[in-house]
Amino acid sequence: MKFFIDSAQIEEIREAIALGVCDGVTTNPSLVAKTGKSFDQVIAEITEIVDGPISLETTAMDVDGMVKEARALAARHDNVVVKIPMTREGMQATKICFEEGISTNVTLIFSPLQALLAAKAGATYVSPFIGRLDDISTEGMSLISDIVDVFGNYAFDTEIIVASVRHPIHILDSARMGADICTIPFGVIKKLYDHPLTDIGIQKFLSDWEKVPK
Ligand code: E4P
Repeated sequence: MKFFIDSAQIEEIREAIALGVCDGVTTNPSLVAKTGKSFDQVIAEITEIVDGPISLETTAMDVDGMVKEARALAARHDNVVVKIPMTREGMQATKICFEEGISTNVTLIFSPLQALLAAKAGATYVSPFIGRLDDISTEGMSLISDIVDVFGNYAFDTEIIVASVRHPIHILDSARMGADICTIPFGVIKKLYDHPLTDIGIQKFLSDWEKVPK
């Protein structure tokens, strides 16, 4: 399973690269707004250091506007993947992007049929948002399981990005289900390394090492 970092913060992305867990980056307008920088600056910083797909979101809601933004974003760097919302207009724009060879990530997917429609439109990636489903007392991970099943029945090239990840168990379950990618906030990436028994084990080894005659 590939690990993407769900962030527009350049320092977080840099740290994830150093840790060897940055196969790609996803951003959205909220994440870009948190940086306090212009979209242009954020794009320049991320494309400079990331060797992998970088999802950048369109904000137009009409087909022509989305396609225009998609072309402009795709022209910024070969690694750019254009994020397009799961709407009727979005699916028309995704189809046009597919025909023009522009990679797309269809975002805000909350049902397996939305994922199927996006795959049929030629999306490179689909992003089902699991945390936001959990937030409304609906099991987010069942959506991933359903999409993995549906895509397994056909020959789509579309990859599944598990998005809106909130904690390590989301990542474990995604790997068990065979999702292609998890896009993870940096705070959650850091948690994956920790285990209290690892800390206790290190302490014990270090204190025993003190007893070894030097
Ligand atoms: C994914 O591409 C989105 O940027 C992100 O995962 C949304 O997560 P949130 O529900 O925590 O905002």
